[in-house]
Amino acid sequence: MMKIVIIGASSGLGRRMALDFARIGCRVGIAARRSAPLEEIKHLYPSNVAAMTIDVTAPDAVRRFYDLIELIDGMDIFINAAGIGFADPDLDDAKLSTTLRTNVEGFARLTAAAYRYYRDTANVSQGQIAAITSVAGTKGIGVAAAYSASKRFQQTFLNALEQLAYQQQVNVAFTDIRPGFVDTPLLAEGRDYPMLMTVDRVAPLIETAILRCRRVYTVDYRWRAVNALWRLVPQRLWRHIGLNW
Ligand SMILES: NC(=O)c1ccc[n+]([C@@H]2O[C@H](COP(=O)([O-])OP(=O)(O)OC[C@H]3O[C@@H](n4cnc5c(N)ncnc54)[C@H](OP(=O)(O)O)[C@@H]3O)[C@@H](O)[C@H]2O)c1
Repeated sequence: MMKIVIIGASSGLGRRMALDFARIGCRVGIAARRSAPLEEIKHLYPSNVAAMTIDVTAPDAVRRFYDLIELIDGMDIFINAAGIGFADPDLDDAKLSTTLRTNVEGFARLTAAAYRYYRDTANVSQGQIAAITSVAGTKGIGVAAAYSASKRFQQTFLNALEQLAYQQQVNVAFTDIRPGFVDTPLLAEGRDYPMLMTVDRVAPLIETAILRCRRVYTVDYRWRAVNALWRLVPQRLWRHIGLNW
């Protein structure tokens, strides 16, 4: 039985993946700050799911993460889906700080903890670390500066760990999932987002990409095309483009 730990499983993409993986018989460890939505998932699949409240910005996050791994008796795949994001053209200090604490510090601590788990656990032959980053991590986006920079950090952190794993002969695969806009509570209500995708459409694509150990997977094909183009735009032109979020 495959064992999967998902951080950020209380809503949106993480919640949907937890439900899908539990339904097909995986043992799933789920975590986020809010306990009620986690308990709901656990209630639906009591024998497959273990839940733990974890705030990735809290000092005890890594200890609780290891406790959760123990609760499901190991971890074949780690999925880091915890994240926050704001449109923040005013560069509000509180929003900036909470974005960086969650998406940078929290992300790095939990992802590094997963890496150490695979490095130090003798009975794991092959591990996998998957993270939901974003197309936003491929360019600096003015109205979401902290968010887009935090997503770039996540992508670079995965690249770095992949190199470290090679050097240290740690058998772990890395998967960087980069969605465009998905209709989840992360996005502000009542706004029109271009090429908005539903969780129903995106989650199965992401799950397949993770199970196939894709290294980098941009969802969906339209975002792949747009992203390929915008990555070619030099910064001196990029600064003139008025992206909204
Ligand atoms: N929606 C999009 O358009 C989109 C596009 C590209 C990438 N992404 C990325 O996809 C990932 C999932 O987001 P989503 O769209 O599914 O949004 P979401 O529904 O808001 O889910 C975010 C999850 O992260 C958890 N979380 C937030 N802060 C946390 C903290 N300090 N500690 C632990 N868990 C925390 C939330 O749970 P609690 O509040 O219960 O802690 C929630 O379960 C994020 O990394 C996001 O950046 C989203």
